Amino acid sequence: MEKVKAELLYEGKAKKMYAVVGRPEEVWVEYKDSLTAFNAQKTGSFAGKGMINAKITSLLYGRLKKAGIPTHLIADVSDTEMICEKLTIIPLEVVTRNRLAGSTAKKLGKDEGTSLEKPLVEFYYKDDALGDPFLSDDQALMMKAVPARADLEILKTKALEINRVLRAEFEKAGLELIDFKLEFGRNAKNEIVLADEVSPDTCRLWDFKTGEKFDKDRFRRDLGKVEESYQAVLHRLKGEQS
Ligand code: ADP
Ligand code: TMP
Ligand code: ASP
Repeated sequence: MEKVKAELLYEGKAKKMYAVVGRPEEVWVEYKDSLTAFNAQKTGSFAGKGMINAKITSLLYGRLKKAGIPTHLIADVSDTEMICEKLTIIPLEVVTRNRLAGSTAKKLGKDEGTSLEKPLVEFYYKDDALGDPFLSDDQALMMKAVPARADLEILKTKALEINRVLRAEFEKAGLELIDFKLEFGRNAKNEIVLADEVSPDTCRLWDFKTGEKFDKDRFRRDLGKVEESYQAVLHRLKGEQS
């Protein structure tokens, strides 16, 4: 039977979350055209942005599923909408870095692009009012972001597994996955499942040959060609040349 969108549950910076008629265990996710940075202090948009991020997420979550990694995605319903498993989101942004860039490069006084011997996983507390601060493992436990230290280890292991798959997928598209942010949630069976999205909003992606940036840093840093770069990521992942 066809699923029907019900009431708006939440409107965030990049997506709207709706209920699904008669399916309390599901959520109807709609990707918006808005673009924000620095905790929405900087705002923008372009037509088709929601569609691009929805398609990229759907494509990558499909490839993760094939690789045996479960995600919240159940089905696409339109170019900008998908039905997902409704989860209780763990209030941690799980950031994995293959090279140092952005906030950690700045904090440690390292050059943007400094290579790492092995990927680094970091936790940030998902709280816009606090500006999503970095958390040590002990701080994450003190804040009860997860009940036990073992959960933090599960999140790190999952992030590294996902990193291996995504890195390879982006590499095929001629893009180096520099770093990215994931969100996880728990389902009714208390399993930890990958939620939210993976897109140029949530990743740093650099052209393998030229080092050109193809992600939200183009917007954050006023580098221009934001729309073209997002489009290029989708085309390249689909195996089309751009
Ligand atoms: P933000 O809240 O940071 O502005 P979005 O606009 O992307 O971000 O809003 C999506 C919200 O939905 C986020 O708060 C995210 O944690 C949450 N979310 C993502 N996937 C799921 C899911 N499967 N079940 C419930 N909530 C989810
Ligand atoms: P950072 O270097 O600013 O800490 O960002 C690390 C990665 O996480 C980068 O790929 C962008 C992504 N990210 C988000 O998806 N949401 C956020 O709120 C922040 C700060 C970063
Ligand atoms: N996700 C945050 C925002 O949308 C910060 C960022 O991506 O720079 O404001």
